[in-house]
Amino acid sequence: MSDNPVRVGLLGCGNVGAELVKLLTRDAELIYAQTGERFEIASIAVRSLDRERPTWVDKALLTDDAFSVVADPEVDIVVEVMGGIAPTRELIEKALVNGKSVVTANKALLASASAELTQLARSVDRDIFFEAAVAGGIPLIRSLRVSLAGERVRRVAGIVNGTTNFILSSMTEKGSSYEEALALATELGYAEADPSADVEGEDARAKAAILATVAFGRLVRSQDVYREGITGISAEDIDFAKRHGYVIKLLALCESGQDASGRDRIAVRVHPALVPDDHPLALVRDSFNAVFVTGDAVGELMFYGRGAGGLPTASAVLGDVIDAAHNLRYGVTERQLEREVASIVPVEEMQNPFYIAIDVNDQPGVLATVAQVFGANMVSIRSMEQTGFDDQAKLVFITHPAPESSVAKTLDELRSLPAVRRVAGSIRVFDPS
Ligand SMILES: NC(=O)c1ccc[n+]([C@@H]2O[C@H](COP(=O)([O-])OP(=O)(O)OC[C@H]3O[C@@H](n4cnc5c(N)ncnc54)[C@H](OP(=O)(O)O)[C@@H]3O)[C@@H](O)[C@H]2O)c1
Repeated sequence: MSDNPVRVGLLGCGNVGAELVKLLTRDAELIYAQTGERFEIASIAVRSLDRERPTWVDKALLTDDAFSVVADPEVDIVVEVMGGIAPTRELIEKALVNGKSVVTANKALLASASAELTQLARSVDRDIFFEAAVAGGIPLIRSLRVSLAGERVRRVAGIVNGTTNFILSSMTEKGSSYEEALALATELGYAEADPSADVEGEDARAKAAILATVAFGRLVRSQDVYREGITGISAEDIDFAKRHGYVIKLLALCESGQDASGRDRIAVRVHPALVPDDHPLALVRDSFNAVFVTGDAVGELMFYGRGAGGLPTASAVLGDVIDAAHNLRYGVTERQLEREVASIVPVEEMQNPFYIAIDVNDQPGVLATVAQVFGANMVSIRSMEQTGFDDQAKLVFITHPAPESSVAKTLDELRSLPAVRRVAGSIRVFDPS
């Protein structure tokens, strides 16, 4: 145990930063008893010195000069919880070059620049930790990075965006429309004023890139991740799913496999999916997150908890700060290997069962014509349901697994049929096997 405190400089004192300050001050004795580390907050960079702060934040530590924090020779660890790419990336780079270890919760930055930042950290013998960047308070990154370091991970599948899970849960449980559920999420503070990063799947995409990189040991960037959000999900889709034993969830899916010549390849995507209602992921409600990891030796693991919120996220940041302090004290760093760029499976080659709903004119021969389009594109139908009559007729299909390119062609051809009024929905079906 050491009584010399490790000095922490914070970049940001918002939802996460303020809660971290609380934990570091309120729980100082507990942290010392459990880890042997004492911490002192050296300074806290914020945008506005005039903004009101929680009572436990010492105003004397605030500065609006973030660069002074990363240059301060007294600071050992820089915690970046301000978000954004600029000037954040430059601040982290300067902190590392100045010999500080870095803890960040910034998924957007990591999903685009993790290779460069890790390489820099390695070159200066310092750590960069990012547990809080994916799934908030859930200890997922460390589990993949440390506990499962030697595991051949096959799949990481999860719900990593609380806002969209809240919206889809409301639609499923209350029968609300997408618009009503989004309005409720905004009112309760689960959705931001501009919810596009969440509902369009961009936030989940950044997290999927980070998860795939850590799980498979190959570099995956945001742009490698196929993305589709939840804005097209209708109450009818939810209703159909419910009646057929499914729940619709926005999933991040990272899978590793091999191509025909035995080369390792990684498929990473974010999209809504019909999840069988007896699968553990189907039971994840409201703003919770859950991630299902499948490994050759370990089998199936599920991580579940609060994927966001100031306090749960600060808990994850605190764990990183303690690890970084320990490493600094003993002059070591975590394994931060140079990662090869992943070979990514193009989305057209990915295979899924699909749910496809089409509005048709209820006239003789329609079903046969539609079925012929499926058959011609080698998309095999597993089940079919017809509802309504006349101009309300709807055909709903669940297919067997089919390549995305074949399904896309099927949908195009269906749209061009005179009897088809519109393709009302097409959603992938999650195959847990
Ligand atoms: N909130 C969550 O549940 C959660 C979960 C996981 C990860 N994260 C990540 O954690 C990070 C922080 O999130 P948050 O919710 O705490 O954000 P936030 O509440 O908006 O806080 C951001 C803080 O950074 C400060 N700041 C912003 N730009 C700055 C600049 N140029 N110079 C100095 N200070 C600056 C702000 O100052 P002012 O206070 O003066 O405005 C504020 O204190 C983000 O990367 C986010 O993606 C958040």
